[in-house]
Amino acid sequence: MSARTIAPAARVRGALRVPGDKSISHRYALLAALADGRSQLAGYAPGADCRSTLACLRALGVEISTAGDAVTIVGHGLGGFSPPQAPLDAGNSGTTMRLLAGVLAAQPFRSTLVGDASLSRRPMRRVIEPLERMGARIESTEGHAPLVIHGGPLRAIEHRPRVPSAQVKSAVLLAGLHAEGVTSVIEPARTRDHTERALVAFGARVACTGSTVSMAGRQRLAARSLSIPGDFSSAAFWLVAAAALPGSEVAIEDVGLNPTRTALLAVLRRFGARVEVRPSAPDDGGEPRGAVVVAHDRTGDVVIGPEEVPGLIDELPALAALAAHGGTVTVRGAAELRVKESDRIASLVAGLRGLGLEAEEWPDGFTVRGGGPPRGGAADARGDHRIAMAMAIAALGARQPCTIDGAETVAISYPDFFETLDRLVA
Ligand code: S3P
Repeated sequence: MSARTIAPAARVRGALRVPGDKSISHRYALLAALADGRSQLAGYAPGADCRSTLACLRALGVEISTAGDAVTIVGHGLGGFSPPQAPLDAGNSGTTMRLLAGVLAAQPFRSTLVGDASLSRRPMRRVIEPLERMGARIESTEGHAPLVIHGGPLRAIEHRPRVPSAQVKSAVLLAGLHAEGVTSVIEPARTRDHTERALVAFGARVACTGSTVSMAGRQRLAARSLSIPGDFSSAAFWLVAAAALPGSEVAIEDVGLNPTRTALLAVLRRFGARVEVRPSAPDDGGEPRGAVVVAHDRTGDVVIGPEEVPGLIDELPALAALAAHGGTVTVRGAAELRVKESDRIASLVAGLRGLGLEAEEWPDGFTVRGGGPPRGGAADARGDHRIAMAMAIAALGARQPCTIDGAETVAISYPDFFETLDRLVA
């Protein structure tokens, strides 16, 4: 395990691009593999998670080549996969496991999905239950990976997930793409809609009304050339740092601005930051993108309630770090954080206490008290990329250098995170 020491910083300044969006990269790769013909993806996410998706697709017989962040995928249409010779390894990636489960549920062969220790602790019943209702049989260890998927012909269903989850919605829609009839997902709250937009980009017809998504099965997908915007969830760490540190200004170029992902911007405005958004012209993938500039102005307290949580679920670790720079941060209605790459409520509270902050844990959230700068200390990333990055942003506001144990986990989504940090604080 590698540790990183982060020195206190006066401010962050600069203009940059962030790695390609992880959620969109997974989806484009999966749909390109299910389409007819050669797709070209530019700006594919460089982290280990999206590499796991490519490795699984290769093991299903899909031809894939990569050159830098460009990926070429040759799909043979629905039904074009070959049975894998070994278990498919999703690594640390919940999106890989859950979305691929939806696709594998429809294949006329048996396949096994495995993951690392963290992914093997995460709940899979939320996808097993609807996929079994559609006609697949899935063996698991009490609702956890490894998943042995006995795929076959599927029937369409109407699914009402109990928790808002884009991964569950997407697994059901990808299974529904192969099924007879119209599949619908009715969500308890709207979640990121990249799957819906990607299906349309690859030529499918999808109907979205309110929180219901419906799609007829057996639609053929056409290969596409698409470019992937920067990942707003990676940009979030710099946007929070810019809001937090006096004299800071950070501009993120060509980043995804899908409104189901950008609730953080309103929170940063409430905190007291100056936030400017410059949208670019729409592109073929149907994903809003553009530049975001955040500058420090004032600091305040932040309170997040359940209604805001789905729009910033992956940004909550970054937001917690704001408390190291000023106001108190309270988050409620976010019990889902407990089943992410780590129990993020426990990881954040323990990590921020380790840096000298006062923090409290609730069953569904946390409170981190602002006040003066924390003294500094050590925090453990607990194998979770977003916890490592959140601790680094909090550490910028400490009085003493801080150590982050397990910092190498940033490679899951943002391999160059620490090099970029060095550049922005210089
Ligand atoms: C993701 C959906 C979210 C998010 C995860 C990526 C996706 O998870 O937290 O990082 O790409 O669909 P849930 O769907 O479990 O909420």
